[in-house]
Amino acid sequence: MQHSFFENPELYFKNDIPTGKIVWKSPSNIALVKYWGKRPVQLPMNPSVSFTLNNSVTETAVEYSPAKKGLNVTFYFEGKRNVSFEEKTKKFFENITNIFPFLNQLEFTIHSKNSFPHSAGIASSASGMSALALALCSIENDHFGTLNNENDFFRKASYVARLGSGSAARSVYGGVVIWGETSAVPGNSDLYGIPVTGNVHKDFLNYHDTILLVDSGQKKVSSRVGHSLMENNPYAKTRFKQASENSVKILDILKSGDKEDFIKIVESEALTLHAMMMTSNPYYLLMKPGTLNIIENIFEFRNETGIPLCFTLDAGPNVHLLYPDENSESVNNFINDRLKPYLSQNGFIKDNVGNGPERLI
Ligand code: PMV
Repeated sequence: MQHSFFENPELYFKNDIPTGKIVWKSPSNIALVKYWGKRPVQLPMNPSVSFTLNNSVTETAVEYSPAKKGLNVTFYFEGKRNVSFEEKTKKFFENITNIFPFLNQLEFTIHSKNSFPHSAGIASSASGMSALALALCSIENDHFGTLNNENDFFRKASYVARLGSGSAARSVYGGVVIWGETSAVPGNSDLYGIPVTGNVHKDFLNYHDTILLVDSGQKKVSSRVGHSLMENNPYAKTRFKQASENSVKILDILKSGDKEDFIKIVESEALTLHAMMMTSNPYYLLMKPGTLNIIENIFEFRNETGIPLCFTLDAGPNVHLLYPDENSESVNNFINDRLKPYLSQNGFIKDNVGNGPERLI
């Protein structure tokens, strides 16, 4: 599918301009193979593969009515007016009027809230941008009927979410999602994510992700800056090749159910992401002492018990613990007995692989 599918110049109101309200709840996701490095416009340098989460969600209500003075946005985050989100959303909408020409005819009041604590240091761009993209696709379909086909609807939502935040392209589907071109998966694209859950062993679809909040501070480096650092990273080319290969490998592993091979790729991907930040100019160290202590403890726990618990990291110090459902009691005890000293006051968030977004209104 090409760009032209997503840009329909006919999508504007020819007669009455409507009023309405749409609410979507959309989850965050955790990358198993990481997207780090992009090219214009918001296209990935390598494919990435993720688990969609279940409990870490953004709920976004979009109210729209005829614009009095052109496209306008009023944004409330967790009940309070948020000027920064307002400006970002308005700019985002202005940038996608070629995709949704009707945006120019409307003004919006948006209420958005996250299920996870705002200061927890969890990236909310994937859940937030996917919820917003889904709402815009719902406006399109409710009034123009152009996205009645479910595949078309979610593909366009993924395409639009990607323009807001790359990783958000993967949040419009449940289970396991790949975003980015690779010859190994027919129909995939740099433009949008596609679900691959049908080819995943049930053990992985029941995986848990317990997010250990090591540090709740502001992000040290924005992902925009992080991605741009890859442009001059001396190891970038090798990294992009490795990630492409790992995307193919992880899909095979997810199919086979091989938890040992899963660990090898997932942990290596996390450490490589951080290695990229350490070898950038300027360089960044995004782990905290607590992060390393937790990782050491995971290695020990795995050696002692044989339980296939592994970790992954985002571009920050928090640790995602990934493990099978059958081991959840042992892992809970491990967290309580050995990891508590390294956690911030926010503690941890219990999550698991989820079914994807849901329209509420
Ligand atoms: O979606 P962005 O631009 O915030 O980038 C996210 C990048 C990582 O979270 C570090 C990795 C990924 O693939 O989600």
